[in-house]
This record gives sequence, C-alpha cells and structure tokens, in this order.
Amino acid sequence: MPPLRTSQAATASTDRDRVDPGWVRKLTGRPLPEVRAAMKEAQDDRVLAEAIASAHASAGRDFYAQVRAPFELYALARLLRPAHIVEVGVSSGVSSAYFLKALSKNGEGHLHSIDLPTKQKGPRFSEGEDSPVALPPGRASGWAVPSDLRGGWDLRLGPSQELLPKLVGELDEVGIFLHDSLHTFAHATFELACVDPKVPAGGVLLADNTEWLEGALDRFAEAKGTRTYYRRGMDLGGFRKP
Ligand SMILES: C[S@@+](CC[C@H](N)C(=O)[O-])C[C@H]1O[C@@H](n2cnc3c(N)ncnc32)[C@H](O)[C@@H]1O
Repeated sequence: MPPLRTSQAATASTDRDRVDPGWVRKLTGRPLPEVRAAMKEAQDDRVLAEAIASAHASAGRDFYAQVRAPFELYALARLLRPAHIVEVGVSSGVSSAYFLKALSKNGEGHLHSIDLPTKQKGPRFSEGEDSPVALPPGRASGWAVPSDLRGGWDLRLGPSQELLPKLVGELDEVGIFLHDSLHTFAHATFELACVDPKVPAGGVLLADNTEWLEGALDRFAEAKGTRTYYRRGMDLGGFRKP
C-alpha cells in the first residue's frame, strides 16, 4: 500500500472531533436530530476512547493510522442496523471497535473483518522505515479492540484477494462495507465489485484514503446510478445504493 502519512494519523483525534452529521444524513436519509443523537452516543463514550488510546500508548506509540471518523461509522451502524458489516483493513482496530460497539448497542448484527497485517520491522517504530499501520512487536490485528467487544467478532487474517470472495459467499446480505486496506484503484475496485452483489438498496459502501484510489469509488458509485459523498475535511467517501 502507499505509505501513510504520519501527519494524517497524528491529527486523527482533532479531525475526529469535528463531526459531520450531514454526511451521515446523506448516506442514511435519516433526519439530522436522529443522526446527531446516534453520533453523540459515540462521542460521549469516553470509556471506549480511553481504552483504545491506552492500548495504543501501551505499545509506545503516540499515533496510529486509523479511520478518522469513527463516530460517523458508529452512527451509520446504529441507524442502518445492518445484519452484517464487512470491513477490509483492521490494523489496530479503531473502525472495528466503533462498529462492534454500535452492533452491541443495536443488540443484533455481526462484524466481519479481514486484515493482512503489516508488521513493524524492528523493536522500535521507525518513521522512515515503518508504515503507521504496522503492528508493534507482539501485537495482532485488532489489538486495540477492548475485550468486552470481541465476542462474536469474525476476524480473518490474510489477503482480501483470497478471503473476501469466500466471506461474501457465506453472507446473505451486507448492509455496510468499508474498504480501508490496499489503497489502489484496482484493489478498491476489486473489493467493491466483490461485495456489491450482496449489498441491498439502501446499503452503504465506504472507502477511506480515496485520494489514492484514482477515482475508484466515484466511478463505482456512478456505475450504480448515484454519487459519492465525502466526509467533510477528509478523503473518506461513501455512497448509498439506490
Ligand atoms: C489503514 S489500516 C486499517 C485501519 C483501520 N480501519 C482502523 O480504523 O483502525 C490498513 C490495514 O489493511 C491491511 N492490508 C493491506 N493490504 C491488504 C490486503 N490486500 N488485504 C487485507 N488487508 C490488507 C494493512 O496491513 C493494514 O493493517
């Protein structure tokens, strides 16, 4: 994958706190007060935020590449109440943790995650050598997800090129899909095309780091007769299937 920028990871919490309920409204069609209420649950959840932050700190890292809009992901899962969410790209597990928290609050639904871990090269993180998504020594994909959210989490390790077609074949329906793995046009298009037949009308397909995707998400949305909406200030995009 292209090198992730440290600055992008380092500003994660400030970007995250400038929430964009309008983006979630466009993707769900739900009224803003409902969207804000769902998002507030996640914003108010200091226990979850602190558990993730202390897991990251315990690995000696003050930054980590992660989805910068976890409250919006949480709200999407709360409002759409999907039976199945599929995400590709776990790393420490920030997006996973917020999806899992939303599903737990829903009282139904499953998260299926795929990750081909990137490992840190040495005992210490090296800015020039290591990707900000690299696993610290002794840690496994999803290591920052609190243990109380892990029950029932379907986490599969390996390349999505192999694992995603198999996973999709096992599911009847995918209500939310997130691409956050190998950020190239070809790979994002492969993942979107793989999951698309199982996403019903009203389901949402998302991709992070779209600036590296050379228009893959926009093109896919247009082929479905719709358009991508972008989270304010970020290259996290998504569309709702017509
Ligand atoms: C940006 S990180 C995911 C961040 C995560 N969504 C979060 O919010 O914390 C990308 C992850 O995708 C993994 N990855 C890269 N290529 C992949 C592939 N072909 N299949 C599955 N995972 C892949 C990387 O090793 C890394 O763990």
